[in-house]
Order: sequence, then structure tokens, then C-alpha cells
Amino acid sequence: MEKPCLILGIESSCDETAAAVVANGREIRSNIIATQAAVHQQYGGVVPEIASRMHVEAILPVIDQALAQAGTTLADIDAIAVTYGPGLVGALLVGLSAAKGLSAATGKPLVGVHHIAGHIAANYLADPAWEPPFLCLVVSGAHSHLVVVHDYEQFEVVARTRDDAAGEAFDKIARAFGLGYPGGPLLEQAAIGGNPQAVTFPRTHFPDSLDFSFSGLKTAALNQLNRLRQAAGQSAAKTAGQSAGNDEPDTIWSGPVSQADFAASYQQAIVDYLANHAIAAAKAHGLKRLAVAGGVSANRCLRDTLSQRASAAGLDFLCPPFEFCTDNAAMIASAGYYAYQNGRRDTLDLNATATLELS
Ligand code: KG4
Ligand code: ZN
Repeated sequence: MEKPCLILGIESSCDETAAAVVANGREIRSNIIATQAAVHQQYGGVVPEIASRMHVEAILPVIDQALAQAGTTLADIDAIAVTYGPGLVGALLVGLSAAKGLSAATGKPLVGVHHIAGHIAANYLADPAWEPPFLCLVVSGAHSHLVVVHDYEQFEVVARTRDDAAGEAFDKIARAFGLGYPGGPLLEQAAIGGNPQAVTFPRTHFPDSLDFSFSGLKTAALNQLNRLRQAAGQSAAKTAGQSAGNDEPDTIWSGPVSQADFAASYQQAIVDYLANHAIAAAKAHGLKRLAVAGGVSANRCLRDTLSQRASAAGLDFLCPPFEFCTDNAAMIASAGYYAYQNGRRDTLDLNATATLELS
């Protein structure tokens, strides 16, 4: 039997230190993630300096664990794939330096991976038969893109957010609710049992474009929260997440709109907006397949809505398993495999970059 092509993937762009071994771009041999979420939670968001320091402590043990769990050693690895951007530069540098060190020491090829190409590749881990071309809705903490995936390494961004990302829209309102960080999953929890039609929120549409804008929706939600707080005799500081205001008990939800209603309506507004644009983009580009990627794709309401609308529109739909929606290194190894197969190799002067275009 032919030896499978083994890629060691390394990811450290934000607050997860991750390493994984993937065979032939699709088969996960190991997937290790050391999350820093509990530490950053105390500050209400990721603190870059702390993230870098924690990556330094975790990176080598995480890589060792990924190799051990895969039952392999560096000698059997064909290439080392690593995220080099976009992300927090200090955080990216830790994974990148480790990958470069291992590549220099072993002579194994180094392949730099765009973080968003990694998120898109998470779909290849979900279905071994899924191939380009397809339309991918990429929704993370920093990106909201509609991407035509022409081929494994050929991307065309056909729409993007003009301000906040969908993940930020979730995180901001979760913070105003006093729910903590990361806000997306907590807001999803808070929405359970709520009426998604209880509160209406505006959606911004641009002429001749499927671009997104979440700032109007977010501001409308914050204004509605403030109005509810004023009616209940509370201060607006609470909505802004300021500590003095946060000490007040929240009494606004005893009125006609419950917290679950508000959260469900806000979530539905984001999800409808994303789903409508994703289906429209697939149709406009003549694509028969739709996929979703990035942290927000872990949201059940989004997955279910996309699945229903895709089916109604006659499109095949795929979403990554929950554990591969948020940051991980298996997706980086998968994307790295296709780059490696295409003959792409990076040298030791590959640098980390905070901003990096996909197409
Ligand atoms: O892709 P990701 O892990 O990191 C980035 O590359 O940014 O995405 C993180 C984002 C955060 O904004 C987080 O709140 C959001 O994904 N997120 C969710 C859910 N799980 C994670 N948003 C809504 N519902 C979820 N279940
Ligand atoms: Zn990500």
C-alpha cells in the first residue's frame, strides 16, 4: 500500500495553540488544541501579549502531542503547514517560528497557509468527496466573506463586510448582555426558546453588491437595549459593558421582551442576512454547491437556515463538524496538503502578517 502523504499542521493566529496530523488532506490522524479562552475571558476579549506568551508555553508540547497521538514522528511527515496570516502578529510568530525551526532541523518542506483558506478546507475534513468549485460563506471573528472557491488554491472574494464581521456582531451584543467571551456561543445559548420575530432589526443592502454591513444592525440592537434599560430605570453604562453599570442587577427582561426573545431575534437577523446573500451569490456565480466556514458556522441556527434555504434553491450544502468550525490545525494541514500537492514551498524568510488578502 502506498504511504499516505502526512502533513503536520500548526495554527496560532489568535487564542488557540493547535497542531494536527492529516493524511492525504482529508483523514485526521490527530488534532490537538490548547485553548486560552478561560484566561482571555477575564478581560472580555483576547489580550495579544498574553496570547503570545501562552502560545510560547504551549506550542512544543502541543506539537509533540499531535505527533504522538498520530502514532508518527517528524521523520514520517512529508511537509509542515503553518498559518502565517491574517491574525495577531505576535501570536502568529510563535507557530511560524516553531514550524520554521522544525523545517530547518529536519529538512521537511515548509508551506505557509492563509488562515481563511484553512477555514474553507475544514469542509474537506467533513466530506471526502467534496471538491471545488463551490461558494463558501466565511464567517469568523474577523471576516465575513463570500468566496468562490474555483480550485483548492484559487479563491475569488466576491463580497465582504464593509465594517464589522459577523462574529464581532455576536460578540458585541453578548458583551452588552453581560454574557462574557467568546460571545457567539453564549448568545446562541441565550436565544434558546426565544421568539425570533419579537424584535425587528434593520439590514443594510448595497446597490449591485452582496457586501455586508453589520454596524447598523449592531448599533440598532445597542440602542434598543438602552431604551429598554431607560424604561426600567437603568443606566446606559451597562449596555456599554462598563463595570459600574454591570454591578446593577438586570431588570429589563421582566417586560414584554425577554432576553431569549431579544437574543433569538438578533441571531435570526444576522443569520437571515448571511443566508440570503450566500444563496444569491451561489446563484449569481452559477454554482451548485454551498459550504460555510469559520467560527460562526458553529451556530446551529445558521447551519439549519443555510441547509433549508440551500435545499429549497436546489443547492448541495456542506458545513464542517462543530469542532472544525473554530480555530484548529487540522484545517491548516488540509489546506497545506493541497498547496504542497500544487508544488508550493516556502522558505525560512516567510514572515507573519496581520492582514493578508485571500484572492
Ligand atoms: O474562526 P474563529 O474561531 O476565529 C477567528 O478566526 O476569528 O471565530 C471566532 C468567532 C467569534 O466571534 C465567536 O463568537 C464566533 O466565532 N462563534 C460563534 C459561535 N461559535 C463561535 N458565533 C455564533 N454562534 C456560535 N455558536
Ligand atoms: Zn479562525
